[in-house]
Amino acid sequence: MTMSGKRFASRIEGIEISGIRRAFEAASADFINLGLGEPDFDTPEHIKTAAIQALKSGFTSYTFNKGIPELREAISDKLLRQNHLSVSPEEIIVTSGASEALHIAILSVVESGDEVLIPNPGFVSYSPLTRLADARPVGVPLNDSDDYTISIEALKERITARTKALIINSPANPTGAVEPETNIKAIAELASDHHLTIISDEVYEHLVYDGAKHISPARFYDGVITVNAVSKTYAMTGFRLGYVAANKEYIEQMLKVHQYIQACASSISQKAALAAITGPQDCVVEMRNEFKRRRDFLVSALRSMGIRFPVPKGAFYIFPEVNDEHDFVERLRRRRVIVTPGSAFGTRGSNHVRISYAANFDLLRQAIAIMSEII
Ligand SMILES: Cc1ncc(COP(=O)(O)O)c(C=O)c1O
Repeated sequence: MTMSGKRFASRIEGIEISGIRRAFEAASADFINLGLGEPDFDTPEHIKTAAIQALKSGFTSYTFNKGIPELREAISDKLLRQNHLSVSPEEIIVTSGASEALHIAILSVVESGDEVLIPNPGFVSYSPLTRLADARPVGVPLNDSDDYTISIEALKERITARTKALIINSPANPTGAVEPETNIKAIAELASDHHLTIISDEVYEHLVYDGAKHISPARFYDGVITVNAVSKTYAMTGFRLGYVAANKEYIEQMLKVHQYIQACASSISQKAALAAITGPQDCVVEMRNEFKRRRDFLVSALRSMGIRFPVPKGAFYIFPEVNDEHDFVERLRRRRVIVTPGSAFGTRGSNHVRISYAANFDLLRQAIAIMSEII
């Protein structure tokens, strides 16, 4: 048989499917899935209604590439009110989730030979997205002794003449770390000194506990692309709706990528996001309170089993150390509980697991009972 024309780009052949997806696919309906990064809550009713109204009124065509003006205005207001950022609606592009936002940010800033500093352990997309842009991801090691916050020294040591950008993610996936304001300021200063772009992934901004505060680096430096989404805040992961905010030079470049790979975000999702951002915010507070209740339960249950980890101050993950991650994951899987192996998040994640508490309290209780049996 002759070979067909199936010859692929080395750029893509070198990239693996995310370990999180694999964990998800391994689970059937009767599994307790603590492997996923999405709220288990239903999307609030007023947001669903806005989506239904958009459909019924025939709001089903392409929108402006950047997104509908009223949504960009709402995001601009939100950034001023909540993040103390002065960003005009023209400096915002509405995207298909934070995923697309990260993609267009990285593609617009880096090229072959460039280095991008990424947290290690960090969100699974940062390294592959950097490599898709033909650039090289350089991990900045995070330590549990620093509560997994970024060490400015470690960051400094990894800056070379080829470093072009750095990605920060606070509150963080998979560690739940929240960077203190002093760190955010120091990172902004360092980036400014070395003319680096900061890509700040803020999708978990509203999920902070124990008085921790989310601080946007764009407050201190104009070389920041702020990435965010309604996905986690409003339990809207399937709507695929996010955005980038940055000053106009960045927007001009990112818009070209967005225009050709996406054209525009879903018109229906844009109307839903408008309702989410401008509507009542009690749903956000309720979800945060429930996440905190679950976090507190898990922290004390895991601690009483002798498992080590810093108490996460944000997001909905705990990232404990285990003796042998693959053995731990497999033994749990046999008892129908899914957690994500830590090495999915980078070399420094090995012999850790990520436990997501975006699952209801009863399931968490059952999972803890099973964990205590296998430990
Ligand atoms: C840190 C981080 N950034 C971005 C995303 C992607 O968000 P979205 O669903 O809006 O594309 C996720 C999803 O898990 C995430 O954890």
